Amino acid sequence: MFKVKKFIDETIDSLKKQVSGMALIAFSGGVDSTVCAALVNKAVGEKLIAVHVDTGYMRKNESENVKKFMKKMGLNFRFINASKDFYKELKNVEEPERKRKIIGEKFIRVFEKVAKEEKIEYLVQGTIAPDWIESGDSLRDNIKSHHNVGGLPEYMKLKLVEPLRDLYKDEVRKVARALKLEVAEKQPFPGPGLAVRIIGEATPERVDIVREACFIVEDEIEKAVQKGKMEMPWQYFAVLLPIKSVGVQGDRRAYGYVISIRAVQSVDAMTCAYSKIPHDILDKISTRITIAMIDKINRVVYDVTNKPPGTVEWE
Ligand code: XMP
Repeated sequence: MFKVKKFIDETIDSLKKQVSGMALIAFSGGVDSTVCAALVNKAVGEKLIAVHVDTGYMRKNESENVKKFMKKMGLNFRFINASKDFYKELKNVEEPERKRKIIGEKFIRVFEKVAKEEKIEYLVQGTIAPDWIESGDSLRDNIKSHHNVGGLPEYMKLKLVEPLRDLYKDEVRKVARALKLEVAEKQPFPGPGLAVRIIGEATPERVDIVREACFIVEDEIEKAVQKGKMEMPWQYFAVLLPIKSVGVQGDRRAYGYVISIRAVQSVDAMTCAYSKIPHDILDKISTRITIAMIDKINRVVYDVTNKPPGTVEWE
């Protein structure tokens, strides 16, 4: 059994000994980085700088909410809007691993700059067990390059601090609850963000489409869960597919893109079963998406793939 209180006390104690200079954490606002920042902040206070980057691939209102939350947590933080740079770097890029590598690189450049300015000595990462297992090592294949694994360039000689390295997600959530962090139940969101939920080039126009579709999926599923109509999925979102299909609007032919609904049940994201969303909820999601983006989306499909053979995200 995972002993939460023991984990928190021992981690704070060892962080106090481990971190003696300025430290930096990439703060996405997810459960992992929030728990990690809270623990390190309890250990070293102002010596930790939390950096949130708005990549342009965040969900609706997400970065603004993260900013408010960093203030509320009393963190020493920096907020960086780098969306234009990210969009520029990803222009004409279609291949999933290249997208991931470019975004990962770009993050590194942003953090490198802050690290130099703030004379950072320690890099705090919210890496948890499935992240490094799936990113591959000498024993395992690389499935996807999860971008929070890898850190900053070696020449910067930053000392790596990974307090959650041995934890699984359910354990991180237990720590979050114990620390009374309101992100405890938040669904995971990948570092490369909406870019890996757009198959093909992740243009700003496509980001707007998938962002709205993700918002609708989240909203309808959360309402359905509240009404007791379905179990809360582990993750639930929308994916924009690059294919067009023929449809009809009024008495006119339409030719628009396809959105796939993805929702999965899981314990640790290593394996997943697709969520059995009731048909009336699927109906609401489909209707709302096609009305909200009437000129762009005329077909909504439901992904019924488990992991394996699929993965949670499509890229
Ligand atoms: P996959 O798609 O590999 O996802 O089955 C497993 C879990 O990891 C999340 N994910 C990421 N998280 N950086 C992250 O921090 C990433 O690059 C990344 N890629 C996927 C995914 O949303 C799921 O929860």
